[in-house]
Amino acid sequence: MRTTYYLTLLFALLIASCQKKPSAVIPPSIIPKPLSQTTKEGTFVLHSNTSLSYDASFKEVANYFSTFLKETYKLSINETNKNGIIQFVTNTEIKHEEEYYLTITPQKIKIESKTTKGAFYGVQSLLQLLPIKTISDQIGIPCLAIKDKPQFVYRGMHLDVGRHFFPVAFVKKYIDMMAMLKMNTFHWHLTEDQGWRIEIKKYPKLQEIAAYRKETLIGHYNDQPHKFDGKKYGGYYTQEEVKEIVAYASERQITVIPEIEMPGHSQAAIAAYPELGCTDEPVEVATKWGVFEDIYCPNEATFTFLEDVIDEVIALFPSKYIHIGGDEAPKTKWKNSKFCQQFIKKNKLKDEHGLQSYFITRMEKYINSKGKQIIGWDEILEGGLAPNATVMSWRGIEGAIEAAKQHHDVILTPGSHCYFDHYQSTNDGEPLAIGGFLPLEKVYNFNPIPEELTPEEAKYVLGTQGNVWTEYMKTTAHVEYMVFPRILALSEVAWTNPANKNFENFKSRLPFYLKRLDHFGINYANHLYELSGTVDVQKEKVTYSLKSDTAGKTIRYTLDNTPPSATSTLYEHPITIDEDTTIQAASFDNQEQISSTFVRKINKHKAIGKKITLSVPPNEAYNAGGKEALINGINGHHKRFGDKEWLGFKDDSLSITIDLGDQKEISSLTTRFHNGKGQWIYAPKKITVYLDDVKITESLIPISEDLTVTHKTTWKAKKAQLVKIVIPNYGKIEQGKQGGGHKAWLFIDELIIK
Ligand code: ACM
Repeated sequence: MRTTYYLTLLFALLIASCQKKPSAVIPPSIIPKPLSQTTKEGTFVLHSNTSLSYDASFKEVANYFSTFLKETYKLSINETNKNGIIQFVTNTEIKHEEEYYLTITPQKIKIESKTTKGAFYGVQSLLQLLPIKTISDQIGIPCLAIKDKPQFVYRGMHLDVGRHFFPVAFVKKYIDMMAMLKMNTFHWHLTEDQGWRIEIKKYPKLQEIAAYRKETLIGHYNDQPHKFDGKKYGGYYTQEEVKEIVAYASERQITVIPEIEMPGHSQAAIAAYPELGCTDEPVEVATKWGVFEDIYCPNEATFTFLEDVIDEVIALFPSKYIHIGGDEAPKTKWKNSKFCQQFIKKNKLKDEHGLQSYFITRMEKYINSKGKQIIGWDEILEGGLAPNATVMSWRGIEGAIEAAKQHHDVILTPGSHCYFDHYQSTNDGEPLAIGGFLPLEKVYNFNPIPEELTPEEAKYVLGTQGNVWTEYMKTTAHVEYMVFPRILALSEVAWTNPANKNFENFKSRLPFYLKRLDHFGINYANHLYELSGTVDVQKEKVTYSLKSDTAGKTIRYTLDNTPPSATSTLYEHPITIDEDTTIQAASFDNQEQISSTFVRKINKHKAIGKKITLSVPPNEAYNAGGKEALINGINGHHKRFGDKEWLGFKDDSLSITIDLGDQKEISSLTTRFHNGKGQWIYAPKKITVYLDDVKITESLIPISEDLTVTHKTTWKAKKAQLVKIVIPNYGKIEQGKQGGGHKAWLFIDELIIK
């Protein structure tokens, strides 16, 4: 009787468990892509009876894993002493401390690593194999074997909390999101002209005065005249909050590197303690963006202050590195200061750059004496590099090349590929940004190892970092929009072996990750279904082709300046361009428009598709469209300079020759230049045109404050085959302006010949 009872019970239980279906298994789509991944037959089913065991050193990681399951799936798994169904095991044969093996069979999940770091990354890969939302309490996981380790030891994300200040909860969310992508360094930019954000107990005025500005610039810096909101703004992190964030990051295998800017970007500190500056005139915490001339004076008051600050900072951050800034320090105040000039003479320094080098080297010595190393932006190369410094190359890759050749460690964060404050789409609907254009694919295709380095020198490249300067990001939602999904692409640049990198494959994995971002409430940008287009010329016939990156969707368009709809013309073949034409198009999924509206004006003119030669190639970072972009009929974006239409040059002079194929009657040339002075881009002052080697016009271009400058030159109609245009660079930017003392960039998007 008793036996029958037990058999019936067992049968009932069996039926019950068979009725519970595991969730649908998602295809493995891990970002960043692992080094090696072999899929196997079968599914592992995770449920509340799954047991977990771990070696003692993995306790924290195991807790992170079970907490994640509890919070995300309401699933509590049981810990057991050994032989758990899920096991965290130490494997001393693994050499790299961030390496891990993840093996999933229908019966078991095993994560092996040498250290907690490796185990943590094993967990991150495992979690990405779980569907993020499931109504089932049985979670199916595909069977596979992964062996994985990173490409670079430094995988960073930066956050500027000086321009805008973000709450502790957001900083933690940012760290969480970095951890999921196996990023390991959070560069916390804590001091700025517009606000000092870390509590320093010895200097209370940093909290009372330097942490607040009286108001903030409205709109873009380039909008003239400047307008302000009239509202006091600011805040700072207490030392307790800093400790909390550092500990939170550490549990997620992330090191926090604090940045305390010197000698520039220090106006807020000088506002609080005027004796740190070079003049007796009081300054206020900055209320607009840019580079400011009030920088620390290299006097004893400054060094005492900075050493005291560093003492308190070092006590809060276990990081090996302290970032000391070093960028954008105009030397005007030092040039005009009697004290500085005497100091230069007395210490036999070459000039103000020598003084900057002295400043950084002296602070490095102090920081080294506390057992820490410095990182500085690439300006620390000017006047001589401090002996042990690591260089963060941001103005391009030249700083990295120079520093690596001097056998200094480098981190690559060039503006062209790593500045997440730049626009990511050419849509007009994008939120206001500082400028530039950095789409997902450009981030993805970044190679942090400059070609100019030998394999020996390349060993000094520690890795890469995404920079998030927040002048134009007032809210956390806006920060998220600028960071995601570009951080996903960067995580693959930093972690994935280049042989495994492929943008198409990355895009196929992206939708799974976007679901995770939805779950975590991340406000990401989604330009996946956006259109792109190209001009084609066959003999004299000009056509325009449209392309959507996503298969299986339709494209519809209009040519009458109205937005496209589900009933607009279906795009089936390239559109013939007989005159100036504006195309408006979008991707549709049946009746639903799934992309933003793509708008392109094609200027029909006589140089389209002709032969073009340049005296110097465009700068590598701003040559996406190649020289043909100058005569393809398409203008670049009116606010951004980094798209495929704008070409950037840094040479003293540029000469462009267009061969029209045969003699054509022409009477005008229209050129457009970018004039984003905040980004060091200036329209030229002069342009000269030659027709078949005879000078036809030389015209001056008036100085303008507009963001783009269109210049039209006309002459009496004349037949010619060769049109040569000579454009000298603007030259050195005036002191006191952004980029003062540096040579300006020249950006052109189109040469219209009619
Ligand atoms: C920087 O972007 N000023 C480092």
